[in-house]
Amino acid sequence: MKQWIDILRQSHQISDEELIQLLTCTDADSIDYLHRQAQEVALSHFGYNIYIRGLIEISNCCRNDCYYCGIRKSNTNVDRYRLSREQILECCAQGYKLGFRTFVMQGGEDRVQNADWLIATVKEIRSNYPDCAITLSLGEMPREVYQQLFEVGANRYLLRHETYDEKHYNQLHPKEMSFDHRIVSLRTLKEIGFQTGTGIMVGSPGQTIAHIIKDIRFMEELQPQMIGIGPFIPHKDTPFAQAQAGSVELTLRLISIFRLMFPSTLIPSTTALASLSKDGRERGILAGANVVMPNLSPVDQRKNYSLYNNKAALGAESAEGLKLLSLQLEKIGYHISYDRGDFRLHTTI
Ligand code: 5AD
Repeated sequence: MKQWIDILRQSHQISDEELIQLLTCTDADSIDYLHRQAQEVALSHFGYNIYIRGLIEISNCCRNDCYYCGIRKSNTNVDRYRLSREQILECCAQGYKLGFRTFVMQGGEDRVQNADWLIATVKEIRSNYPDCAITLSLGEMPREVYQQLFEVGANRYLLRHETYDEKHYNQLHPKEMSFDHRIVSLRTLKEIGFQTGTGIMVGSPGQTIAHIIKDIRFMEELQPQMIGIGPFIPHKDTPFAQAQAGSVELTLRLISIFRLMFPSTLIPSTTALASLSKDGRERGILAGANVVMPNLSPVDQRKNYSLYNNKAALGAESAEGLKLLSLQLEKIGYHISYDRGDFRLHTTI
């Protein structure tokens, strides 16, 4: 196993057979070795710096009905909200003061905060904060809209593909949603020039190791600049309420594999990981992650952006908790980097 891990580190390549072994291996020494190699690669590229991104959850209104997601349109138990442009700008102002230089606007696919509204909002953030990166995580949109958002100053876009197996995609999404459209959207974002992020939930209902291998092969082809992965966590008001949560261990293993395959990629230690395990965020970093995304949304709305149960939103998950985050990072030898942390192709190893 260690030999394959060494080869993966050197060549960034691994066969399906070896991936299966790595993903199912129960030998603690080998897994430790994998995490250590991935951590070393992350250190060689980023040092002990952890980039921070200020997450602004701009709306929990969504026209989609994804079976796993707590803010799906059929969930009538959600108090729906939309932040006004002023509120979003206020989040940016507070974030900027705290040292954030990336703002991530995330939200459901809302019809009210429509293309024109979003374009005007991005334009205003761009003119107020010329030195900041603007990341969007707002789902699928027509190419023209992506293009305009890019032109008015958005730099990055997060759109997880969720699964690269069409049948599995259809187990997670209603028939109005299209696997092909999701993949086309990702390719479009890359073509336009966005630093593009994709990813999956680990342990989503019906997911198999074979699916994960397809996800990895897709990412090799797409070459995303960012990879977001976290464990699936059931939400009580969804069709998957009774499903099992994904595995923290497998999530960590995948973070390490991605780090070895894509050394320069930006990989967050996600909120889902921190929500499922007390030291999940730290373990993600020690497995090769190099980004955290504290929450800049107004405190009184955070409970309403509940994609899954018991989502961490306070403490070190929050922007006010930067001190706490900083302490947690220090304990494992890392520190917050206030750099805007764009994707750069590093050539060193
Ligand atoms: N558990 C974990 N992650 C989830 N997401 C949505 N619902 C859940 C859930 N129940 C993730 C999806 C989406 C991202 C914004 O949040 O992968 O792309």
